Amino acid sequence: MANTGSSISAPLKRAAGAVQAAPRDGFATGLGVLTATLGSAVGLGNIWKFPFLTGANGGAAFLIVYLISTLLVGLPVMISELTMGRTARADAITTLQKLSPSRKPWWLIGAIGALSAFMILAFYTEVAGWVFAYIFKSLSAAALSTNPEVTSQAFSGLVTDPVQSLVWQWIVLGLVGFIIILGVSKGIENTTKRLMPVLFLLLVAVCVRSLTLPGAAKGLEFLLKPDFSKVTGLTMLTAMGLAFFKLSIGMGTMITYGSYFREDQNIPITATRVMLADLSVSLLAGMAIFPAVFAFGFEPSAGPSLLFITIPAVFASMPLGHFFMVIFFILAAIAATGAMLSLFEVPVAYMSERLGMSRRTATLLTMALLVLFGSAAALSNSVLADFKVLGMTMFDLYDFTTSNIFLPVGGIFICLFVGWVWGMDQVKKSLSNNGILKNEGIARLFLFLVRFVSPVLILLVLLQGLNIL
Ligand code: PFF
Repeated sequence: MANTGSSISAPLKRAAGAVQAAPRDGFATGLGVLTATLGSAVGLGNIWKFPFLTGANGGAAFLIVYLISTLLVGLPVMISELTMGRTARADAITTLQKLSPSRKPWWLIGAIGALSAFMILAFYTEVAGWVFAYIFKSLSAAALSTNPEVTSQAFSGLVTDPVQSLVWQWIVLGLVGFIIILGVSKGIENTTKRLMPVLFLLLVAVCVRSLTLPGAAKGLEFLLKPDFSKVTGLTMLTAMGLAFFKLSIGMGTMITYGSYFREDQNIPITATRVMLADLSVSLLAGMAIFPAVFAFGFEPSAGPSLLFITIPAVFASMPLGHFFMVIFFILAAIAATGAMLSLFEVPVAYMSERLGMSRRTATLLTMALLVLFGSAAALSNSVLADFKVLGMTMFDLYDFTTSNIFLPVGGIFICLFVGWVWGMDQVKKSLSNNGILKNEGIARLFLFLVRFVSPVLILLVLLQGLNIL
């Protein structure tokens, strides 16, 4: 006789519910894991932060320092986060709750991480909005002039206009929110699988254009010529801070993505591949930008002014510049999108898995909150220009608090957690793929770094960022 609903006992009902529960979404293919994780690492940081910092801090000499920083700090933290996520198979906050001994407040690291992801999104979506706006501005040639004063006016026309600033931020939020609602494999994985190769091809195209300009060699020299006299203690701290931002670590992004990794994914190898591919994209971006900047006699600058003032003037100076400028901003928009997807996923995963919301509701709520808090960043150059907290506009405050405080603090505690709370047995278990650990030496080295080396080095970055060093 068929069982009626009312006659099923409570434990059986629970079991029936468990059978019916949809399996947790995750990355379906090894390639998807790689493109999504790389999509998170590759972002606006590759286009304006990395090339300029490399050029200004001794070229190839800085690259060596950057590589050492990623090996001693970046990779250990990234591997820690990914393994924690894969072991717990949960969002960042729940991962720490699940993995830590009971009643210890380690979950706070996850909470600071989710808050950081949210705060980074609040200003990152604004810069991404400018990038998207520039695709259209380049199409209409509105921002194209060989005179940096004109391009500078075009840029300030955009950022000081409250309506345009808000609308472009909302467009970006809508686009990223739409992809997030589609899900981890159908949204994030599918999008990054398609877009990352496009980004790479477009970047190579702009590189070829830039490197074949007469006088390009000077730009290459700026980027690559090793100048060890420029490497100081401060340079090392700059390189480490950059490695943090570049590899999207310290804020739960990699914990969240790690929770979607397949069981047979080799985490140290994947992390190393992502780091190397991210470095290649950064170098290509430098080779796309600086040879052209020098070929036309411009001064390399840093930050948004390089992207939105110098670069349009450079493109306006070259044959087919109009076309290449459109391509350049499309590739920057792709880079920003992959990074924003990973940031969005942190609060969305928490809200949908822990607070019982549907993915759609969690995404819409995150978007609504970002419309609210992000507008404070979007209006930082116009109506809220004089509204300052600790002497900073809201845009700068979000940037400063996350990059200089939350990310390093998150990184230190993640190392301490894996190194001292988890310990060797758990590290070995969680680094293995389907129970097989091929290289125990790597596990030992990794544990040594997260116990003794990485946290100390990150502490130095933290103190320097707060002007204490
Ligand atoms: N790695 C991104 C970039 O280089 O632009 C920025 C970023 C993305 C930081 C995701 C943090 C993050 F969680």
